[in-house]
Amino acid sequence: MFWLKSPADGAARLDIDGGRQVRLEPWETAMNAITIIQDEHRRMGAVLTCLTQLSRELLDPEVQPDLAPFEAILAYLEAFPARFHHPKEETYLFRALDARAPDLKPVLDTLRDEHDQGERRLVDLERALERLRTRPTEEAGNFCKAVDDYVAFEKAHIRLEETEILPQAASRLTAEELAVLEDAFLGNEDPLFSAGRQRKYRDLYSYVLAAVPQPHGFADPWKRQAAPLRA
Ligand SMILES: [Fe+2]
Ligand SMILES: [Fe+2]
Repeated sequence: MFWLKSPADGAARLDIDGGRQVRLEPWETAMNAITIIQDEHRRMGAVLTCLTQLSRELLDPEVQPDLAPFEAILAYLEAFPARFHHPKEETYLFRALDARAPDLKPVLDTLRDEHDQGERRLVDLERALERLRTRPTEEAGNFCKAVDDYVAFEKAHIRLEETEILPQAASRLTAEELAVLEDAFLGNEDPLFSAGRQRKYRDLYSYVLAAVPQPHGFADPWKRQAAPLRA
């Protein structure tokens, strides 16, 4: 099953089971553009969760730390979210909303500022990793703290987009604007999660799957709090 665009009328169609096609309504196209962005957020969230969990290993005095997975994670964050995801949000999503929804300006300005801040925070995290490399025992706690700050910041950023921006985009952008957005994000080739995964990220992919709980990865599901007993 995959998406097609008709050259005749420009309408999106979903190709199902042996060539039968279903014409998609504009809101369905909208949901596809939004779903692609949400999928990227979920993958970035999985990498951030992996980063947090791996950093905890550094606090175990019995563990001989291997910094290769941290290097791979920081390289990935630089190679994909910082280079593709955020710039495309600014160019195709935020700019379209600037024109359609001026009331969203304060939150869009905040998100743009957070993209800039995120780049600076990533550089700080790379410096923290350098310090960890030279003084592994002494710097383990500082590195974990730097990871926690970075992950909390990026997850809050994703949450703000998912709650304040994506629903507005789905309801207020035109079908044409959403189709442009969809095309832009479909062009993204994630170097870690795509089928053509880059060689340098193969080990990291296994780490991410091992660190992230089911159903997204292979780790044990997070324990749920028992429901309080009713009186
Ligand atoms: Fe963003
Ligand atoms: Fe985003």
